[in-house]
Amino acid sequence: MGHFFFVLTNVDAEPILKQEIRLRYPDLRMSYSRPGFITFKADKEGPFDPLFCRVSGLCHGKFKLSELGTERAWVYPVHSGLELPPGLKALSEQSLFKKGETVRLIVMAGPEEFWVCSYTLRSHHFQTPGEISSILQRDVPSRAYYKIAEAYASFDLPFEQQETILELGSAPGGASLFLLEQDLKVMGVDPAEMDPKILKSINFKQIRKPFETLTGEDFRSGVDWIISDINLPPTVVLREVFRLLTFLEPRGLLVTLKMNDLKHLEVVASVRAQLRKQGFPKVELKYLPSHKKEICLLALHT
Ligand SMILES: C[S@@+](CC[C@H](N)C(=O)[O-])C[C@H]1O[C@@H](n2cnc3c(N)ncnc32)[C@H](O)[C@@H]1O
Repeated sequence: MGHFFFVLTNVDAEPILKQEIRLRYPDLRMSYSRPGFITFKADKEGPFDPLFCRVSGLCHGKFKLSELGTERAWVYPVHSGLELPPGLKALSEQSLFKKGETVRLIVMAGPEEFWVCSYTLRSHHFQTPGEISSILQRDVPSRAYYKIAEAYASFDLPFEQQETILELGSAPGGASLFLLEQDLKVMGVDPAEMDPKILKSINFKQIRKPFETLTGEDFRSGVDWIISDINLPPTVVLREVFRLLTFLEPRGLLVTLKMNDLKHLEVVASVRAQLRKQGFPKVELKYLPSHKKEICLLALHT
């Protein structure tokens, strides 16, 4: 008998995810799918840990509501039009899982269609069914607010008060807003206009030019972190970040890699080794709840 795996991802990331699976797990075959929920069949057991999904694990099959037990579980509807049965909703709200525990995830794909899945809750996961964002929606300059807030929560980023962040691609300022709220100083690099609220902060300074033109002269003192959300190909962004590392010595990098082309998967495959060579022993990649065609790269000196 075969084994089945599942993934939950953003529909925009499905082509990248499928290409990643073809390259890294060539023996898997796609099985049942709904937008954002895909299952794969494997002939034998083995590791399964794709990057371009919010959560992945084992899929144990399709069940009817009457066949589901009352063990602890999280329930995740694949689209907002599905109403969770009251019993399952209550079960989901009451169930807590500790890090390292196996989460029982019931994916609701239709009114009478429940897929029972499981995965190990790791430290970078969110405590939410389907790993939906736990960051509250509010009036912010851009979606980047949620991405940086999720990266902060998921990686437990060790920012310290009044550290200096060099933020590449900072306009209009969602991420800057979050960083300023953490009592950090932000140097935002972007030729585009920042939200006036951000410009009012005494802890924000804009360098209004392309990041390719930054030189040592732009920095009177050092920077503690480099964060990038530049909407250019990962090869270009990483080349420039590596150039900045010839005159800046941040203790961490947080780079959003925009995956607008499947060929960028090659960069993702080699980036860990490249960063280790640059003196960053800890490198992690995480597809965040608010991500579409992108992934977050964290590199730390220690
Ligand atoms: C996804 S947006 C960034 C959103 C921003 N981080 C926020 O929090 O609102 C990408 C930004 O990259 C900027 N960008 C593109 N090419 C750039 C370059 N060569 N140098 C600096 N910024 C650039 C764009 O102007 C745009 O504002």
